[in-house]
Amino acid sequence: MRWKHPFLMMIVPAMLLGVANPIRSQSQNPVSQEPRNSCVSCHLEEEEELAEPVKAMENDIHTKNGLSCADCHGGDPTAGLDGDPDAAMDPTKGYIGVPDRTEIPQFCGRCHSDPEYMRQYNPRLPTDQLDRYKTSIHGKRLAGGDEKVATCVDCHGTHGILKANDSRSPVYATNVPQTCARCHADEEYMADYDIPTDQVEEYEKSVHGQALLKRGDTAAPACNDCHGNHGAAPPAVPSVVYVCGQCHVNNSEMFQESPHKDAFAEEDLPECETCHGNHGIEHPKDEMLGVGPESICLECHDEGEKAYEVAAKMYVDIDSLKTAIFRADSLVKVAETAGMEVVDAKFSISDARQFLIKSRTIIHKLSVEELEKLSKEGMKKAMEAYAMGIAALEELQFRRKGLAISTIFIIILAIGLYFKIREVDKKTQFQELDLGN
Ligand code: HEC
Ligand code: HEC
Ligand code: HEC
Ligand code: HEC
Ligand code: HEC
Ligand code: HEC
Ligand code: HEC
Ligand code: HEC
Ligand code: HEC
Repeated sequence: MRWKHPFLMMIVPAMLLGVANPIRSQSQNPVSQEPRNSCVSCHLEEEEELAEPVKAMENDIHTKNGLSCADCHGGDPTAGLDGDPDAAMDPTKGYIGVPDRTEIPQFCGRCHSDPEYMRQYNPRLPTDQLDRYKTSIHGKRLAGGDEKVATCVDCHGTHGILKANDSRSPVYATNVPQTCARCHADEEYMADYDIPTDQVEEYEKSVHGQALLKRGDTAAPACNDCHGNHGAAPPAVPSVVYVCGQCHVNNSEMFQESPHKDAFAEEDLPECETCHGNHGIEHPKDEMLGVGPESICLECHDEGEKAYEVAAKMYVDIDSLKTAIFRADSLVKVAETAGMEVVDAKFSISDARQFLIKSRTIIHKLSVEELEKLSKEGMKKAMEAYAMGIAALEELQFRRKGLAISTIFIIILAIGLYFKIREVDKKTQFQELDLGN
């Protein structure tokens, strides 16, 4: 099939051919600075599969940097303008052709792992993708000949690669889950492997997935924030197990100070995942503490153990604070609706809420004393607010009583005044009569 859009047919080759690149003259392929590019012009004339790459390259980051077909595939773009493919796609002129799947990482890494070369274009761009990729499960399996794993082009595309921070890029945070889903959510494709295919589905329902995909909150992790862009785990993190602490610093620090730290390490249990899961992480409930049916503590601890007591006590502390805040808040709202001034009470409630938030974090230390201290302070604030709410309502009642009394007083006054006026009126009538007499 030939190209359907005559306009694009003029514009695209002009772009691909005409971009003058000041850097290119020093780069690996001096010949490609020729304004006419046989790869582009001939391929545009060819059937769909051969023309498609030319069209797809229009918005490609490589095109924007003045790179073209021969920079990746090799060959001589100044030859073959007369219509001889072999003259351009000549292995003696460096033509590589299409790389085998197993060779793709080296194919891209030829430039991307060369700091000197890349610096000419973008000094800030990391050049560690290939090295890291080799340490990932994808990279290790590919090296072993497994062609089903992800290579560079499965995540970035082949022709039409965009900058990673371009919101249309398949590796842009909000698009990452679907990029991984292409394989990881495909049961048939993953049938050869002994791993589940529910990560994306679970993730989409999780607190993280909801925050990123529904609310566009890029502070929440996409797949790559926990698994790394290229390597097995992000920089400075020895394993995906420790990745939560990068964002949840306080929880992680408190966990490190808890008796679970050594206990979990001994049994090879992951720090956070053991209680929260990984892909389907939900908004935690207070009932995960305690000794009720939703308690996670009871999965490992039994009645009679110290930990059982701790679990029960922690729940009571948090639940009492939560209830106290609820009561104070409800009362203050009534006063507010009645038009009373409750600014101070609302400040106290918001202070109490801060203590509740801190309490839910400090449980990770498993220290009953520290939780109790916090929850008591929170309780004090909640009681303060409650007392202020009561005071506001009493004041309101007082004002209402005052209003009633003054209303009665005014009525009495009005009646008195009425008689007084009548009396005066009568007197003046008499006087008029007298005068008239
Ligand atoms: C005169 C026309 C013509 C020119 C010039 C030309 N090609 Fe091709 N190209 C073809 C045709 C026809 C095919 C399909 C047949 C084949 O594989 O030889 C092809 C195939 C390819 C393939 C796919 C090969 C495969 O194994 O599937 C690549 C990659 C390619 N060309 C790159 C280039 C590059 C890079 C240049 C410039 C240096 C170039 N072509 C110049 C006509 C051309
Ligand atoms: C950034 C490097 C890069 C550039 C630039 C590039 N290609 Fe490719 N091309 C590849 C890779 C990698 C593959 C193999 C993809 C795969 O196996 O999935 C490929 C595959 C191909 C194929 C085989 C069919 C296909 O689509 O997979 C053709 C034909 C081709 N390229 C032509 C071109 C032409 C023509 C240009 C210039 C307009 C070009 N390429 C520019 C990297 C590049
Ligand atoms: C001929 C050298 C060369 C080859 C081969 C090459 N690239 Fe590039 N690539 C570049 C240059 C130069 C840039 C531009 C850097 C910039 O502007 O940030 C770039 C940019 C990129 C970017 C955007 C980086 C960013 O700023 O977010 C990605 C992604 C990328 N390349 C992926 C690939 C992939 C995948 C392959 C293999 C299919 C590949 N590249 C092959 C030279 C190359
Ligand atoms: C499993 C998917 C995946 C594979 C495979 C992959 N990348 Fe990436 N790549 C990403 C993600 C995700 C990002 C970062 C997006 C971001 O910054 O948020 C990225 C970013 C990049 C960037 C921008 C600079 C940087 O490092 O952040 C370049 C360049 C790049 N990749 C090249 C490559 C090359 C070359 C390969 C093959 C050796 C490759 N990628 C393999 C997913 C992948
Ligand atoms: C082209 C298909 C493909 C794509 C796209 C892909 N993967 Fe994979 N991935 C695989 C295959 C196949 C394996 C090997 C499974 C195995 O060894 O158990 C794998 C393995 C993994 C593993 C290791 C699983 C284990 O065994 O512990 C992780 C983690 C992983 N991928 C994450 C990702 C993430 C995150 C993305 C997206 C950024 C992604 N993958 C994109 C195919 C893909
Ligand atoms: C909040 C961090 C986090 C996010 C986000 C995340 N993962 Fe994971 N993932 C993990 C942890 C932790 C494991 C378990 C690793 C271990 O035990 O070694 C895991 C395991 C995996 C595995 C191995 C098989 C399995 O299910 O145990 C695959 C594949 C995987 N994740 C893919 C993905 C994909 C695809 C996404 C995006 C939809 C994603 N992950 C998002 C943390 C995360
Ligand atoms: C890239 C940063 C990042 C990483 C990595 C990360 N999280 Fe989160 N997490 C967030 C953000 C941001 C939120 C808040 C989402 C929201 O607004 O609902 C959150 C929310 C949560 C919540 C819910 C908190 C609440 O009050 O509802 C839990 C539990 C959680 N993460 C646990 C984990 C665990 C366990 C891991 C590791 C497996 C992890 N997170 C990895 C950023 C991260
Ligand atoms: C022993 C089980 C357990 C472990 C291990 C655990 N958590 Fe929690 N986590 C909980 C419980 C229970 C709650 C709910 C407390 C509440 O709401 O009363 C919670 C609440 C949270 C919250 C929401 C409250 C807050 O602090 O904002 C986050 C976030 C969180 N955990 C992250 C983590 C991270 C990160 C790790 C690993 C360092 C971790 N948790 C380890 C049991 C655990
Ligand atoms: C995955 C299993 C597991 C879960 C879930 C778990 N723990 Fe533990 N916990 C342990 C292990 C193992 C130890 C160390 C051995 C022991 O004392 O039982 C421990 C120790 C403790 C200790 C120290 C006990 C002592 O004697 O000093 C406390 C306190 C504790 N856990 C509280 C909790 C609370 C509260 C929860 C629920 C939020 C919880 N644990 C959930 C496994 C778990």
